[in-house]
Amino acid sequence: MIQDEIQRLKEDQGAVILAHNYQRPEVQEIADFVGDSLELAIKAKEATADVLIFCGVEFMAETAKILNPSRKVILPVKEAGCPLADCLTPEMVREAKARYPEAAVVLYVNSTVESKAEADITCTSANAVEVVRSLSETQVLFGPDANLAHYVAAQVPEKEIIPLPADGHCPVHQEYTLADVEAGHARGDAVVCHPECDPAVQEASDLVASTGGMVRQAHLHKDWTVLTEEGMAYRLGRLFPDRTFHAVEEVVCEDMKRTTLGDVRRALETGEYEVTIDEAIAGRARKAIERMIALRG
Ligand code: 13P
Ligand code: SF4
Repeated sequence: MIQDEIQRLKEDQGAVILAHNYQRPEVQEIADFVGDSLELAIKAKEATADVLIFCGVEFMAETAKILNPSRKVILPVKEAGCPLADCLTPEMVREAKARYPEAAVVLYVNSTVESKAEADITCTSANAVEVVRSLSETQVLFGPDANLAHYVAAQVPEKEIIPLPADGHCPVHQEYTLADVEAGHARGDAVVCHPECDPAVQEASDLVASTGGMVRQAHLHKDWTVLTEEGMAYRLGRLFPDRTFHAVEEVVCEDMKRTTLGDVRRALETGEYEVTIDEAIAGRARKAIERMIALRG
């Protein structure tokens, strides 16, 4: 069985497999750790294994490499990107900084390493509010997700949150509508959505949470409609078999779903595709990411 081959190769190589909550069920099953983007970043930073096989998308594997540069970090599918991350260029960040010289720059980890190098601090959806509250500046440039920026602005009204760009969105989470919330409520479910969803969807939902937050708060209700990539409903169902989690099955992140078990086996056999980042850029991005990690606890 391919799972046994992966296990054997993993032991031979001294590798660990990290997987995001949106990965295919069979990839989640062979992973040593499954989590949200903040949990994965922390795991990667603390990892002692020689090789980290990162089943997720490019910005997550890059964050792992930046936090633990002496490890070999492998992204099994080179094309596993994130259109949200790609919508913000470092030039756009530099221009905004020139326009708002007093503002702090907070970038969601769903951004390129070149853009992160321009940031004061990064955040994930699990800690965005905490990160923004930690700043001394009252004006904050926040990108690239405008819906997450809206969520933060509502939680931290004492700060001026300027979305950068004005209309950055995840195309996957943009697909959820009020009709999905209403369908969940009609079923008798509590509805949880990710803060990358449209503000109207956030406001109509019972809970807004990162994927890790969904795990931590699943005990609050028995039946849930989960408005985030469908892999999350699988993850929650595995963790809480006595509860039900309805997903909107047609809402899928193609990038997250690119990685198959065959890709994981090939990555272990060939060492492809190793993440490498120019240290001049990595060093600047590391400061912003480490500042976020240091807020923990
Ligand atoms: P989380 O940080 O909640 O895992 O989200 C990552 C992501 O890409 C959401 O689309
Ligand atoms: Fe990027 Fe959206 Fe996919 Fe998350 S779900 S990796 S933000 S495209």
